Amino acid sequence: MSSPAPVGGLPGEPVGSVPDERRLRVELGPRSYDIVVGTGALARAAAALPGRARVAVVSQAVIADRYADPLLASLGEAGIMAELFLIDDGEQAKSLPTVESLCRRFAAWGLLRGDAVVALGGGVVGDTAGFTAAAYHRGVACLQAPTTLLAQVDAAIGGKTGVNLPEGKNLVGAFHQPVAVVADVDTLATLPEREYRAGLGEVAKYAFMGDAELGATLADEAAAAALLARHPAVLADVVARSAAIKAAVVSADEYERTGLRATLNYGHTLAHALETVGRYGLLHGEAVAVGLVFAAELAAALDRLPPDAPDATRRMLARFGLPTAAPAGLGAADLVTLMRRDKKAAGGLTFVLPAPGGGPLERVDDPPLRLVERALAAVGVGDGVGDGDRG
Ligand SMILES: NC(=O)c1ccc[n+]([C@@H]2O[C@H](COP(=O)([O-])OP(=O)(O)OC[C@H]3O[C@@H](n4cnc5c(N)ncnc54)[C@H](O)[C@@H]3O)[C@@H](O)[C@H]2O)c1
Repeated sequence: MSSPAPVGGLPGEPVGSVPDERRLRVELGPRSYDIVVGTGALARAAAALPGRARVAVVSQAVIADRYADPLLASLGEAGIMAELFLIDDGEQAKSLPTVESLCRRFAAWGLLRGDAVVALGGGVVGDTAGFTAAAYHRGVACLQAPTTLLAQVDAAIGGKTGVNLPEGKNLVGAFHQPVAVVADVDTLATLPEREYRAGLGEVAKYAFMGDAELGATLADEAAAAALLARHPAVLADVVARSAAIKAAVVSADEYERTGLRATLNYGHTLAHALETVGRYGLLHGEAVAVGLVFAAELAAALDRLPPDAPDATRRMLARFGLPTAAPAGLGAADLVTLMRRDKKAAGGLTFVLPAPGGGPLERVDDPPLRLVERALAAVGVGDGVGDGDRG
């Protein structure tokens, strides 16, 4: 679909000035921005915030302890007044009370309309700080500095921000594109192993979205081993390739109007249902991994992929220690009901699947229920489809 952009430096630096960095572009007219992927990028982040007097850096203690110093030093050297604002860890911190607390702390510190927020962290920090930036003073600039693999390849790109309500995840939010994304792959060295592998679930999704070289990297034993070992050069390449796909999709369909952005949800219909069931504690990327196997099974059943595609998917995911079957004890009835509630579905069953012959991903509405059940069975979901669900 898209290949990583040429080697370059941070926004404001000439292309080629920092050899180990890649710069991608999200093309959105006047709101276009760069994504910088590379090692040591945080130490040069101030170049992406020209003309800002004050910058509020939002982070979590575990991340700030390790990575705030180079960022704050970079801002200080550029003459920017910067202050750290910590939020709690976990989904419960992605909430309106956290947004209010941040807004009040920003106001007390004197953050103004022309200043900026930096989100230094994973998707929880990025979504919360991004939404706070969208609301504070009716919108201040936000730079995303993602520190998890999931955030570097997905959450930090594309301008979706928001927080959870007790009634559900991501129920309050706004589109607020960042002014830049600075993805320093060095930060991934300290990511807990399970979080890192879960991020590879999203990377695998991009491999199925058409980047042949990314697919080859994930399918190759040696390259996959280097990725698991978090080799910085391999990481930079894989993050840049994944981010380039997301950037291209967001550039073409910012507000999810043409259906293209919805293709980023490959594997996600079942994944969201598994996450909603909740009690199994799957991380998002782990749920996506199961969802990718299910999608391959469904696509094969619909003659959209060859019969050996599901096993190839399983092999790739298993290599990264990702689950390829749903947790035991789940009934198809519950999952079908939850998948019908998916926000794309409007009451029916909607999936994102390859076009016949393994072509580009497309939306598929209401495939035969028996094939959905068969694909669910192939990922270990027991029968027990309720009477009301049998079509
Ligand atoms: N906005 C979007 O488009 C989008 C897309 C996908 C997911 N999301 C959201 O992202 C969130 C999940 O994000 P996540 O997977 O990054 O989880 P997360 O932000 O909760 O981070 C996972 C854990 O790793 C820690 N951590 C982060 N970076 C670290 C580092 N470099 N070293 C050590 N520890 C580190 C965090 O403190 C946290 O404990 C969800 O809320 C999801 O809804 C948003």
